[in-house]
Amino acid sequence: MTASPTDDATVTPPVAVDASTAPVSSVDASVVDPAPRPHATAEEVEAARKDTKLAQVLYHDWEAETYDDKWSISYDERCIDYARGRFDAVAGDLPLPYERALELGCGTGFFLLNLMQGGVAKTGSVTDLSPGMVKVAMRNAEHLGLPVDGRVADAETIPYEDNTFDLVVGHAVLHHIPDVEQSLREVLRVLKPGGRFVFAGEPSTVGNLYARWLGRATWEVTTTITKLPFLADWRRPQEELDESSRAAALEAIVDLHTFDPTDLENMAKSAGGSEVRAVTEEFAAALLGWPVRTFEAAVPPEKLGWGWAKFAFGGFKTLSWVDEKVLRHVVPRGFFYNVMITGVKPGSAS
Ligand SMILES: C[S@@+](CC[C@H](N)C(=O)[O-])C[C@H]1O[C@@H](n2cnc3c(N)ncnc32)[C@H](O)[C@@H]1O
Repeated sequence: MTASPTDDATVTPPVAVDASTAPVSSVDASVVDPAPRPHATAEEVEAARKDTKLAQVLYHDWEAETYDDKWSISYDERCIDYARGRFDAVAGDLPLPYERALELGCGTGFFLLNLMQGGVAKTGSVTDLSPGMVKVAMRNAEHLGLPVDGRVADAETIPYEDNTFDLVVGHAVLHHIPDVEQSLREVLRVLKPGGRFVFAGEPSTVGNLYARWLGRATWEVTTTITKLPFLADWRRPQEELDESSRAAALEAIVDLHTFDPTDLENMAKSAGGSEVRAVTEEFAAALLGWPVRTFEAAVPPEKLGWGWAKFAFGGFKTLSWVDEKVLRHVVPRGFFYNVMITGVKPGSAS
């Protein structure tokens, strides 16, 4: 492959380029950022039905500026511990930090920026198909003072040279990529020999069934009962609900896969990975988490105060503990919602 790396991973402005025409040279200041498209029209949504990558861009550009709020993402101890916890749960006890890390489908930077703050990597490159997401991730990195560069990139054709990174990570991205095995081959190409990949936050096939059902039921119940006059304060304006429904239609298009952990292990091995291992977690925690997050999206944010946040976070933590200490020993791994996978590129680090 001929792709070459971007500049040294210092804090650089986001150089967001159209992934289909992404230059393979170093970051070029003359490249014009494609503008994020946060408000998809009905026509664009229609076109996106036949073009999953357009759907990814429209849906995630739409979400970018509100994404951290929607998913309660922060860059403090709470999310540093969560990101580091997921990394350790699958990748275990390894010498840290990695020198140079790449994130695919970075979104607002939740995984890599928090892993860097948690001591996992010294420098980072954040990439995503959505220009809006890369813009927000770079803004977050800048606020945190982290040495990160960013570019718009398709995970199926990663615009970096062979043997560039010590670590490649992703969170909740594999299930959006049409050809996951091709993307894993690309991951192994850009990793240095001995380098590691860690992907977390992927939906299991069984977990996705109950999560979707719980989400739909919560949405229906909440948006129906808030039509009652005495609950009118709890109803979001109709145009916001309509926009959410349009987005939900896109969501069905952008979520392409669910994973059986053993199938995902086999795919990573067939892409060329060694020491491949999948781990799953969140069963009881997911049964609480999906209704909670859907309810939060269905009502005006100002209605939910500190008490709610405490309940949601405390409940999730408690049930995660129950999952880890009890259910993990009795429930089959495929029933847990969150699938994580790791592996290394064969060969020894030079
Ligand atoms: C569910 S979001 C997760 C974002 C972030 N990793 C997180 O956990 O908060 C999935 C992200 O993957 C990106 N994405 C979808 N398809 C992609 C592709 N083919 N290549 C790179 N990124 C992609 C989307 O734009 C979106 O930002």
